[in-house]
Amino acid sequence: MNEFYQQDIISIKDYTKEKLEKIFTFTDKIMNLDPISRREICKGKTLGYLFYEPSTRTRLSFDSAMASVGGSSLGISNIESSSTQKGESLADTVKIMSIYSDALILRHTLDGSSRFAAEISDKPVINAGSGTEEHPTQAIQDLFTIKKEKKKIDGLKIGIVGDLKYGRTVYSLLHGLGNYDVDVRLISPESLKIRTDSVYEIKKKLDFTEATNVEDHIDELDVLYVTRIQKERFPDEEEYLKVKGSYVVGLDLLKQMKSDSIILHPLPRIDEISTDVDNTPNAKYFEQAEYGKHTRAALLGLTLNENGF
Ligand code: CP
Repeated sequence: MNEFYQQDIISIKDYTKEKLEKIFTFTDKIMNLDPISRREICKGKTLGYLFYEPSTRTRLSFDSAMASVGGSSLGISNIESSSTQKGESLADTVKIMSIYSDALILRHTLDGSSRFAAEISDKPVINAGSGTEEHPTQAIQDLFTIKKEKKKIDGLKIGIVGDLKYGRTVYSLLHGLGNYDVDVRLISPESLKIRTDSVYEIKKKLDFTEATNVEDHIDELDVLYVTRIQKERFPDEEEYLKVKGSYVVGLDLLKQMKSDSIILHPLPRIDEISTDVDNTPNAKYFEQAEYGKHTRAALLGLTLNENGF
């Protein structure tokens, strides 16, 4: 039996290098399939989605991924229009969604929400973003993008810049990178450094250095991973205003980068990458969003087929 069959996807910490590489192999396979064969993979299966926070890419890439492998999707993208408004609990909502679906994706404001849902659901649960904790399928997409665009992950110098305190994609990416031999620089304002409660666990697998000035590192990096300052997670708007616009990647900064370096961003972008960078060969964030559709299609195919595809 395929080891991913009927398994929840809750944390990237559950993924070894071997497992990640297997997912990448299946993603390559799915990308090379003709559309008709691809539509056989999840034919007749239904994906349920439940989003307690806004999303464009994660929800729509899962939706598009499921359609591309022949399945369908249904769910709640706007919690205001659901019976949650009448007081229905997350547990009951998950139970109901599990009745209507073969797998369930959940985005929620709370850390631990997906693990909780997985305990309730008798169908596989995929974490589509839980609080400030994790976004595992984003990390799989990010690692796949690096591998496709740089032809390797081991040996790279990777700078992660922006909001490292509240950005859940950063935590999943760091745990994912812990499977590889990489040199990681974490660059942020002092107040948005990586949370101290996570440092100990991440340091067990990954060596990183911390800095505040991106220009001190930019000429060495192979990958610059830019993140948005997560305004919605600041307890105090004054604190947000102090760090707003701390880093803006523009053509001036790009000139200092290696010619073959790549710029990634999980998106949405606000103002941290200027739009004139978009058309440079270094900008790979829209390709990254496209790879997200294929990595998620591979994950759905593996989760819903006993013998893989
Ligand atoms: N990267 C990401 O999670 O984007 P969305 O919030 O639009 O889903």
